[in-house]
Order: sequence, then C-alpha cells, then structure tokens
Amino acid sequence: MKQMATLNIDGKSIELPVLEAASGANVIDVRSLSGAGIFTYDPGFLSTASCDSKITYIDGDAGILMHRGYPIEQLAGQSEHLEVCYLLLHGELPKENQLAAFKDDINKRMPVDDEFAKLFDGFNSSAHPMSMLCAAVAGLAAQFHDGLDIYNEDHRTESALQLIAKMPTLAAMTYRKITAQPFVAPNPELDYAENFLNMCFGDPGQTSKISSTMASAMDKIFILHADHEQNASTSTVRLAGSTEANPYAAIAAGIAALWGPSHGGANEAVLTMLEQIGDISDVAKYVDKAKDKGDSFKLMGFGHRVYKNFDPRALVMQDSCHAVLAEKNIEDEPLLKIATRLEKIAREEPYFIERRLYPNIDFYSGITLKAMSIPTSMYTVVFALGRTPGWISHWCEMLSEPFKIGRPRQLYLGSQQRNYTEISSR
Ligand code: CMC
Repeated sequence: MKQMATLNIDGKSIELPVLEAASGANVIDVRSLSGAGIFTYDPGFLSTASCDSKITYIDGDAGILMHRGYPIEQLAGQSEHLEVCYLLLHGELPKENQLAAFKDDINKRMPVDDEFAKLFDGFNSSAHPMSMLCAAVAGLAAQFHDGLDIYNEDHRTESALQLIAKMPTLAAMTYRKITAQPFVAPNPELDYAENFLNMCFGDPGQTSKISSTMASAMDKIFILHADHEQNASTSTVRLAGSTEANPYAAIAAGIAALWGPSHGGANEAVLTMLEQIGDISDVAKYVDKAKDKGDSFKLMGFGHRVYKNFDPRALVMQDSCHAVLAEKNIEDEPLLKIATRLEKIAREEPYFIERRLYPNIDFYSGITLKAMSIPTSMYTVVFALGRTPGWISHWCEMLSEPFKIGRPRQLYLGSQQRNYTEISSR
C-alpha cells in the first residue's frame, strides 16, 4: 500500500505520496505543492532529495559508501580505478574483455590537441592549477560541441570516455605549468595512475620508473574520490547539465564548485593548516581555537556533512597513507608529526566526540599527496581527476531519463513594492 503524508495548511489538507527508496530514507514527493502555491524551504538541501539515482548509496551514520551496490572497501581493496569508472558508467563490473576494451578506449583518447599547450601558455606560472584545469576542461567544450547530441547515448558515452581519458593529461599539464617544465605526453604502455605520475614527474619522450607503492596509492586516491552521490560539485554538474549545456562545460562548473575549502579544497586546506600550526607544541592551542565559537578557525580535514561516525574512505586512505610514508621513510617529517598529534587530540576531545567530528578522507589524502611530493595547490586537481567518472556518470544518468531544468524557488524577505524617488529627493 502506497504511503502518503498529509500536509495541513490554511485549512486545506494536501496528500503527498511517499516515494520508497531501495535503501535508506524514503522521500516525500512535494512536486504537487507548487501547483498549490506553496514551496518548501531547505537552504543547503539538508532535507531535500534533488533527484533519484542508481549510482551511489551512502549511509552516513553507519559509515557505508557503495557504488552500484559494491562497498567502497571491496572496490578499493580489489579493483582498479578504470574498473570502477566502468562500473559507475555502465552499472555492472566489466568482464575481462570489456575491461581490456575500456582501457584501450581510454588510452587512445588520452592525448589532447596540440593547441591546448597554447591555452596553458596564456597563464602565468603562479596561476592556481584549479583555475587552469577549469579553463582547460571548458576548452574541451570548444573542441567537442558541433555535432554533439546530448540525447544520443553513444554521444554521451563518447563524452564520458573523452573526459575520463583527458583529465589526467590536463591535470598533469597544470602541474608542469606551475613547475615551469615542458609537458609530457601520455604513454599508452602505462596504466592510468602510472601515466598521470609519469606525465607529472617524467621527462618528455622517456618513461620514468614509477614506484608501485606510489602508483597504487594514487589509484586508490582516484577510486576513493570516484563518486559521492549528490555532493556540491555533482549537484552543480547536474544543475548546469539540466540546462542542456555542453557536458564539458557542465563538468567545468563542477570543477569550480569542487575548488572551495568546504568541499574538494579541504585537502589543500589541511596542509595549509598544518603549515599554519607550524610546530607540534602549538597543536593544543589550535585545537582550542577550533573549539572557540568566537574564532572562525576550523580543523580542516575533520567533520563531514554526511558521515557522522566515520568516513569509510578515510579508513582505506589511512592504510595507503602509511604505506607511502613507510616507503618514503618520512614518518617523522614535522608536518606529518603535527597531523598525527592533531588526529589523536581531536579523537579524544569531548568537543569533537560530541559533534561527531572525525578525520575525513581529505585529512589522509592531503598527507599522502604531500609525501608523494605533489604540491599543495595540486591536491584539489587530483580530487577532480578522481571525481570525473562520478560527475559524468551522473550527467549521463540524468540525460538518459526525462528531466527538468533545475530551478529552485526562494523565500522572499525583501521590500514590498515601492515607488522610485528622484536622486535629489532621497
Ligand atoms: N572544526 C571545528 N568545529 C567544527 C568543524 C571543524 N572542522 N566542523 C564542524 N564543526 C562544528 C561546528 O562549528 C558546529 O558546532 P556547533 O554545533 O557548536 O555550532 C558543529 O561542529 C556542526 O557543524 P556543521 O557546520 O553544522 O556541520 P556541517 O555538516 O554543516 O559541515 C563540513 C560539514 C565538512 C562543511 C564541516 O565539518 C567543515 O567545514 N569541515 C572542515 C572542512 C573539511 O574538511 N571539508 C571536507 C569535507 S569531506 C570532502 C568532501 O566529501 O567533499
């Protein structure tokens, strides 16, 4: 029997259907309210489902994250990033021949047009890599626009392949630009994470020796960031895409949304914060600042909008982080010592326990990337590279069904109508 919710307002009774979720919270379908001249109010979308989706399920209280039903721990432990990309896009794990064909499809599309070097030349080497990545992905919209039919499934799949393939190349180009080094072309002999590391740290025309620990840690970072249901950047991609915009432009909008320190910029903010703390003896002072309501300082890399017990991605990342630190033999690096102390204090302090603030994935990925010699300003670029399959899978999912342009309403609290007064009489 279909469940209904009843809303009583102004002496009227409005019946609202309850839509049943496959897992997790059911939702009250409020779509008919606009016809009755009533809107719901939910800044920050704390209680609002903006769409339905079959891609990713999160239970924040239980610390569960699943893609297409597969727990993140199993994917991060047994899979590789391109396999997860295939899963997100197509809904099923690939068979051996399907994965081989998918990898081949990606490899073929990794090189970017030579003209992109000129786009990067237009930036100063002090430019933030996220601004360059955003511009470069928007630049793909210039290359792939005419003839692109977003309602054609093959065209959508092609866009997804192009994006997943070209993102490591563009991301590595931002690194080479900020370090004033010549670009390194993708090498089809290398796997996805190795290729990215080689394009960052290798020499043009040569294949450098990539440590398997580093390549595996980078691949895990990609897997752990691959999708996270309707977060701010994914919702941005859906909102921009809902106007029927070019998919590369919609992904560029997602990259812009990811940049903020409350979202993807948090891993960069973690390192900036560790540098700000500066000395292990000052950790307690900064913990006090984080607890002080009158102080805007927050412990970056702690807390999550959805995970209120633990972030399952953080647990996997923690192991990977320690493997990288051990290989690099830098477990006693001063900033990492500050991080370890911070983690311990925050886990023991009632303020953090009561508010259920735990280290999130950005805490450990920031430290891992630091140990891998990736510059701090590149951290969010790495996140964007990992999140690309999620963004494009959500875009494909939205386009594959009837959808409406995203157009939220508002609660107007401004002036009533009034008459214009001449400037001399104000
Ligand atoms: N340090 C100190 N206090 C905090 C922190 C923090 N990092 N995060 C939340 N609080 C406090 C907050 O002041 C509030 O206290 P009170 O109840 O006394 O007013 C309480 O905890 C609840 O916080 P909230 O702001 O209501 O939590 P939220 O769900 O709206 O925000 C968050 C989640 C992630 C934006 C926030 O925890 C934060 O800013 N964390 C630091 C930034 C960060 O690491 N972001 C990355 C998130 S994971 C990456 C991703 O998936 O995109």
